[in-house]
Amino acid sequence: MQDKVWIFDTTLRDGEQALKASLTEDDKLQLAHAISRLNVDVMEVGFPVSSPADFRAVQRIASEVKGPIICGLARAVAKDIEACGEALKTAQQGRIHTFIATSPLHLEHKLRMSLDDATAMAVKAIKQARNYTDDVEFSCEDAGRTPHDHLCRIVEQAIAAGANTINLPDTVGYVTPDEYAAMIHHLMNNVPNIDKARLSVHCHNDLGLAVANSIAAVQAGARQIECTVNGIGERAGNCSLEEVAMIMKMRQDHLKVHTDIRSEEIYRASRQVAKICNMPVQPNKAIVGENAFAHSSGIHQDGVLKAQNTYEIMSPESVGVPSNQLNMTSRSGRHVIEHRLSELGYHGDDYDMDSLYTSFLELADQKGTVYDYDLEAMIYFNQIRDKDEHYQLQYVNATSNSQSVATATIGLSVAGEQKQEAATGNGPVEASFAALARLTGMDVDVIEYNLDATGQGASSLGQVDIIAKYQGRTYHGAGLAADIVEASVHAMVRVYNIIYRAQQVSNLKQQRKAG
Ligand code: KIV
Ligand code: ZN
Repeated sequence: MQDKVWIFDTTLRDGEQALKASLTEDDKLQLAHAISRLNVDVMEVGFPVSSPADFRAVQRIASEVKGPIICGLARAVAKDIEACGEALKTAQQGRIHTFIATSPLHLEHKLRMSLDDATAMAVKAIKQARNYTDDVEFSCEDAGRTPHDHLCRIVEQAIAAGANTINLPDTVGYVTPDEYAAMIHHLMNNVPNIDKARLSVHCHNDLGLAVANSIAAVQAGARQIECTVNGIGERAGNCSLEEVAMIMKMRQDHLKVHTDIRSEEIYRASRQVAKICNMPVQPNKAIVGENAFAHSSGIHQDGVLKAQNTYEIMSPESVGVPSNQLNMTSRSGRHVIEHRLSELGYHGDDYDMDSLYTSFLELADQKGTVYDYDLEAMIYFNQIRDKDEHYQLQYVNATSNSQSVATATIGLSVAGEQKQEAATGNGPVEASFAALARLTGMDVDVIEYNLDATGQGASSLGQVDIIAKYQGRTYHGAGLAADIVEASVHAMVRVYNIIYRAQQVSNLKQQRKAG
């Protein structure tokens, strides 16, 4: 019987931490469902003490997402543990993950305390966490740069205090695979109570070694890998979930370990993370990049046609990349769409068929043919389309030419009331944004505007992602449409709706304080 390696996904904590604009509660919930379908063992979904919004998101995921252990992060201080324990109260199985830095560098310059003081704090925090749950993980932050005997001292006491997972992060992505494996060996051989805990690794990718280091640690005896979908995370990111999962699947013969990851769910989860987090996947990324299964050279194409395994070590289907691109038109019925979506790995509760089919027909009329990637984009954008929202776009009418200023007229429903405004600008997008600012009475600062094409060729849909600042906070909005000005306006309306919701929450809090 081969050993199982636990997969601890931290896309919604370490991954989310690195985004330009934080995810909304709904975005987080949607991603939590997508990630749980990968069958991860543990899902770290936030840092509850960090903000009321993060607390609520963790709480909501804990009550609504069944399957994986739901984990929250906490520094080794009482208020963090308390917030984490409270947020996880309704989880089927909850884990508190507490940490403190152990490297001389962090102890001296960041924490300004001794290793003994840090150990005492860790022990206290672990004992407090055990009052909320039996499942407590302890991390030695910057373990990669901590002397091995120091690690042994703190780890032994952490286990004695009740931690049952010990995580040894390479926080700054500095170590090499042999060094990391030696560290795991040292702990396994020198911590007397090490058999009472599962050893875990958490690698950052600053030198591009996160995956190699994680696998080296598994070969040395670690049995949990912390990772993120598409490898997103602080700086150069974390260890990529899809890469370690596929390494352990494809090289079981050599590594003699397995995971419970459903590999056919990988591609869909990767696409959802890329879209919702506004973090595109590089085309040559292993497993999930656009080119991961594309053969360009004539010699390779000839080889693959003769025998697929000449140049392909795994099939695209094994990671859920759809095998054929079925084209759909306005004559395609609902059942065709449903069938295709299930082939792409989507379930009925991922989308609302009525609104999806309406958008599908509109798009099919505009484009002629609707492709798989259009369907996927519509699922995502239908979910964030501002159906019951404060601001709802009615129409955009923008004109521009090379000789005069652009003008735009926008129809917007504001809390159910129909309004219209026109404005001019250097181009149709600027004119539209000026009209929206008049309609909403809010002047937001667009700090990033990205236009991308989803699909191929001239019939691609325009996807616009906007990062905007309003009263010191950063917001992300995305929009999709065949017309790029319309896509831009959808993205901006989304920003206004998120700002509106944030204002409602802060008004409520002020009323509560006053009352
Ligand atoms: O990189 C790191 O050390 C972390 C810890 C909080 C586990 O993210
Ligand atoms: Zn990290």
